[in-house]
Amino acid sequence: MDGKVKSVWRAACLMGGLCIWGIAVDPAPGRAAVESGSLSKMIFGKTPDGTPVELYVLKNGQITVKVMTYGAIITEIDTPDRNGKERDVVLGFDSLEGYLGKHPYFGATVGRVANRIAKGKFTLNGQEYTLAVNDGPNTLHGGLKGFDKVIWKAEPIDHPDGPSIKLTRRSPDGEEGYPGNLDVGVQFTVTEQNELKIEYTATTDKATPINLSNHSYFNLAGRTTEPVLGHELMLAADHYTPVDETLIPTGEIAPVTGTPLDFTKPTDIGARIKEFKVEPTGYDHNFVLNSGGKSLALAGRVYEPKTGRVMELSTTEPGVQFYTGNFLDGTITGKDGIAYRKHHAFCLEAQHYPDSIHHANFPSAVLEPGKTYTQTTVYKFSTR
Ligand code: BGC
Repeated sequence: MDGKVKSVWRAACLMGGLCIWGIAVDPAPGRAAVESGSLSKMIFGKTPDGTPVELYVLKNGQITVKVMTYGAIITEIDTPDRNGKERDVVLGFDSLEGYLGKHPYFGATVGRVANRIAKGKFTLNGQEYTLAVNDGPNTLHGGLKGFDKVIWKAEPIDHPDGPSIKLTRRSPDGEEGYPGNLDVGVQFTVTEQNELKIEYTATTDKATPINLSNHSYFNLAGRTTEPVLGHELMLAADHYTPVDETLIPTGEIAPVTGTPLDFTKPTDIGARIKEFKVEPTGYDHNFVLNSGGKSLALAGRVYEPKTGRVMELSTTEPGVQFYTGNFLDGTITGKDGIAYRKHHAFCLEAQHYPDSIHHANFPSAVLEPGKTYTQTTVYKFSTR
């Protein structure tokens, strides 16, 4: 955008329903003022205790992103195909009820610790902490009531790049067994370059493990019954972290060369998926990004040949969990009445490696008091 965002102005709020914000822009020298993007708000529904859930609609460039205050969940991403036809490319539900029921983290912000912690136990500064075990013998994605199942507070933010919404909450000391009051912010911004930028921050008053990520399930063909096996994937990862039968890393950092995990050159997701023999088969692996997670860098690119849609993922994180919806078995019916089956979608969850708390050779996922946790992940949409 040429010029700077001057203010986010609220034009109207109708009877607890739709609110619309516009974004006023200071023109670049010699240019007329333009409006870049829009932000609107509506009530998506109510939780069983009567708490209203807000849904924010962020539009800019050619994309529309919807985010709600329950679970800081992305409910929709609309992006055009190569002929300009806009379609929703993420799995989810048509209404809040679906999200309130049991589902595998569709679109959710996951935390306090995304991915697995072995046996639901860890020791930090000499103290042992016990978490709920909710995935075989391990803790997965923050426990029984993680960040995906709570109401967040939302606030529109003046952001130079476009419409932006910040969701915040305090995760109290002891929540799901984790130490320290953790103040968390997750900011969603949609830029004129068709990017969805997610910026996470957190501070704590006691040392705590932390690993925040977004768990969107993508199918770049749009709302379809077709699996993602024909999508082509590139991952900037020469290594991965092998796991045991409960999906806990062994601690080894192994090369992808010669394995079905080598996506260093663009390859169809389905090309080697049959090489996995353990049910439910498919990809569910943490890739060690070549960037090392030191600054925002390209982690992967996915191309869907029929529609021409391309999604690029950049992140400041050292790892990405590539998951092909192996546990989807047709029992969940989502948007437009579509039953979500195995390999219906892929997730690229930018994060620290699973079970980092038990592996001194993995990048540390512990936040100390006085320090600020940050994580930035950008999804950029285009066509080819
Ligand atoms: C995990 C999968 C899990 C899925 C849904 C992914 O991040 O790696 O094993 O089934 O989330 O919970």
